[in-house]
Amino acid sequence: MNKVDYLRISLIDRCNFRCQYCMPEGEELKYLLSSEILSCSELLILLKEVFIPLGFTKFRLTGGEPLLRPDLREIIEEINLLPETQDIALTTNGYLLTEQAQILYDAGLRRINISLDSLNPKNFDLIIGRKNRNFWQKTWLGIQKAYEVGFNPLKLNVVIIPNINDHEILDLAQLTIDKNWHVRFIEFMPIGNEKLFTEKAWIPSEDIREMIRKKWGLEEANILGHGPADVFKIPNSKGTLGFISQMSECFCDRCNRIRLSADGWLRPCLLNETGQINLKNDLRKGITTEEIRKKVADLLLIKPEINFKERNSGTDSGIYKRTMSQIGG
Ligand code: GTP
Ligand code: 5AD
Ligand code: SF4
Repeated sequence: MNKVDYLRISLIDRCNFRCQYCMPEGEELKYLLSSEILSCSELLILLKEVFIPLGFTKFRLTGGEPLLRPDLREIIEEINLLPETQDIALTTNGYLLTEQAQILYDAGLRRINISLDSLNPKNFDLIIGRKNRNFWQKTWLGIQKAYEVGFNPLKLNVVIIPNINDHEILDLAQLTIDKNWHVRFIEFMPIGNEKLFTEKAWIPSEDIREMIRKKWGLEEANILGHGPADVFKIPNSKGTLGFISQMSECFCDRCNRIRLSADGWLRPCLLNETGQINLKNDLRKGITTEEIRKKVADLLLIKPEINFKERNSGTDSGIYKRTMSQIGG
């Protein structure tokens, strides 16, 4: 069985984008009140007294958009100070990096993954649901800033959706030839937007690899990370290409992570709501951290069964209703 030592922590359910595949405009989401969100001190209690004693050493901060969290710097500093922390990383949409990249680096963050679904400003704004506002320019500058500040590796996440951005696959892959950036193509998953997700709404990673192979060739490679990506590179390029293939290939048997949502739900599997427990409620009810640790240990024991269960049976509609922003991507 795989060692589960990687905790993905969602810090906030809100976002300044409205990506079509995640939280499209018009579909009103009910946001959490700040009192419902785990505070920095509650989070640290859970890390020190529950997760670290159970062997967790790798942490990724996600959202919604984690850069909207006012105490993000403090959270990073505190997690970095824990002697057991081996890796702390963050996933962001990049929009606020022009202002925050240096602050995050100074707080001790070194690894950052940024979503970038298009190199075309108009298409980008369409995808992120912010028409005609040129959000692309600021996001692009944010990525450059993160690179200049020294984030390494710097990974760019691209969700490819047919007829939306599949015509940009080669342009996005080409970025890795001259830049030490790591572009990862993610298969679109049936989470969040029911209208957008159809049988034909995702492109298998192998098809994307074949396009790239034909143009430049492709060889296997490696990059620091703890996620499910298979890594390749264009020969003699500076960066790499990653493929996250949760639709065409099941990587559940090598799953090393669990997720904590901003409101404290501990979720053993991204694609499955079975077995969730709410650690924030437990903490606030005065349940001891020893008891909470026992609950989490029990959940970890049944995680391998949960990983496969929903995959095999499917949900009623085939779409998982909670969006990535609510679960924490
Ligand atoms: P590193 O490899 O450590 O850099 O992290 P990562 O690739 O896991 O992090 P990131 O937040 O960039 O995740 C990228 C995407 O991978 C997510 O948005 C998901 O689409 C997918 N992903 C990550 N973890 C899981 C998982 O447990 N199950 C599934 N099905 N998809 C996942
Ligand atoms: N399928 C695949 N990836 C998704 N993301 C958000 N929603 C989906 C989905 N339905 C990705 C974003 C971002 C990360 C946090 O989650 O592109 O990189
Ligand atoms: Fe925001 Fe990320 Fe969801 Fe896009 S994918 S709306 S950037 S949380």
